[in-house]
Amino acid sequence: MKILVINGPNINMLGIREPGVYGKQTFQDLLWLLEETAQNLTISVTQFQSNHEGAIVDMIQAAYGKYDGIVINPAAYTHTSVAILDALKAVSIPAVEVHISDVDAREEFRKHSYPGLYCEKTIKGQGLDGYRQAIIYLKEKYA
Ligand code: DQA
Repeated sequence: MKILVINGPNINMLGIREPGVYGKQTFQDLLWLLEETAQNLTISVTQFQSNHEGAIVDMIQAAYGKYDGIVINPAAYTHTSVAILDALKAVSIPAVEVHISDVDAREEFRKHSYPGLYCEKTIKGQGLDGYRQAIIYLKEKYA
């Protein structure tokens, strides 16, 4: 099974950005967690991070026919991007949305997600472990 993990803008700043909200673990810690999860579940996990909406759309399109599942944290694009929603719909790959923080307990504008309208599940407020939970969900349902 092949899973693509997509991270949106500023996720590469984990550990530096707002540690009170996102925790002290770094982006490198996230990459290690993904590697470890892939090894434990004997699946392939590829990570892609971009600060650019179009690059994320391009990556989702490139995933067509190549990946069995997508885990996506669209970050700030969660709340604005119809383009990412439409790309997910276009490729029709099973997807789970992850948010490190509990977006429902924050500002009003963070409560709405465009990509979440496509994703079959949203995991929020679980820190980096949310990514592991999302991967396990996809493996159990689709492997
Ligand atoms: C986030 C929540 C978003 O509202 C925010 O813009 C982010 C990160 C999260 O993982 O909690 O950049 O997606």
